[in-house]
Amino acid sequence: MFISDDIHYIGVNDHQIDLFEGQFEVPLGMAYNSYVILDEKIAVVDSVEHGFTEEWLGNLKKVIGERAVDYLIVQHMEPDHSSSILGFLQAYPTVKIVSSDKAFKMMANFYGVSDVSKQIAVKEGDSLSLGKHTLKFIAAPMVHWPEVIMTYDECDKVLFSADAFGKFGANDVEDPEGWACEARRYYFGIVGKYGVQVQNLLKKASALEIKTICSLHGPVLSGDLSYYLDVYRTWSSYGVESEGIVVAYTSVYGNTATAAEYLADQLRENGCKKVVLIDLIREDLHESVEDAFRYGTMVLATTTYNNDVFPRMKQFIEHLTERGYQKRKLAFIENGSWAPTAAKGMKSLFENCKEITYAENNVTILSALKEDGKAKLESLAKELTA
Ligand code: FEO
Repeated sequence: MFISDDIHYIGVNDHQIDLFEGQFEVPLGMAYNSYVILDEKIAVVDSVEHGFTEEWLGNLKKVIGERAVDYLIVQHMEPDHSSSILGFLQAYPTVKIVSSDKAFKMMANFYGVSDVSKQIAVKEGDSLSLGKHTLKFIAAPMVHWPEVIMTYDECDKVLFSADAFGKFGANDVEDPEGWACEARRYYFGIVGKYGVQVQNLLKKASALEIKTICSLHGPVLSGDLSYYLDVYRTWSSYGVESEGIVVAYTSVYGNTATAAEYLADQLRENGCKKVVLIDLIREDLHESVEDAFRYGTMVLATTTYNNDVFPRMKQFIEHLTERGYQKRKLAFIENGSWAPTAAKGMKSLFENCKEITYAENNVTILSALKEDGKAKLESLAKELTA
């Protein structure tokens, strides 16, 4: 696949993977992208997951034939991109590796690759000439590891963006939901904690003329890039992307579910156009995390359990708080049969989050939803849709 006359896609698609990074379900598989830039010198940008080394090297050979590769640019050392480095060095023993100082330390630790005569360490603002193409390097620490560099090709206006702008899903299957859904789940699952660092990167990107974004996962982005840059600005600043209210619940015997469903109905009756009702036990955890960051208001409904919050709800909240959850409105519904304490427990889990406002009409259910509970839920629905 051509990115430009001189830049070719040589990545691979993984349909064997069950969990990406050991926790994310990827029903559409995963792409490990890699690129080659052809010029007087040849540069390859990033490797792929080690199970695909042969296929990747084959893709490269189809483009460059018997020519040697001059530079392997390693932007990110996470093994989904770096674990074919050893195989590459065997195939192209004269190559120089271009990467950050931090990445070279990781390369030695991961793979024992430490021959300094083969290393060219680069940092923010450094450049590398291939001939017609000059590559500029951009430091992007914590997007999403500390060693990350990105690469900008001044000639073809291509930003090689490492993990940024990536998504779950292989490139050889159509994603029925388009780019945003799996890109959002990927962003909040993997990079979400590092909003400040992503903001810093976007500031640097705004100074560049970018025609094409070549991420390490998902499709190559071209055409009008403002949509992608805008959603990244929203996500990284923890802004509200879509109007709507999330009602997320856990339920042991169905009574808390009934309360959550009743509230969802009331919200709709009060004019809320988008209510996202989530059974946290059955929904993919990272889909739920994505929705929590997408919308501005969320109601959490759960059972009191061992005088605390039901485990899955606690886990969900911890996934939010560790990713910097902020700038949101929250309401709580607690259920308990003898000593309901879940609302207090949930609130305490958010105590270090910035700019959280809390609804006034939190709701306590004693075992099952009755008329008094319905009246309280109606008041909460009115408050949230006022
Ligand atoms: Fe796609 Fe952070 O590795």
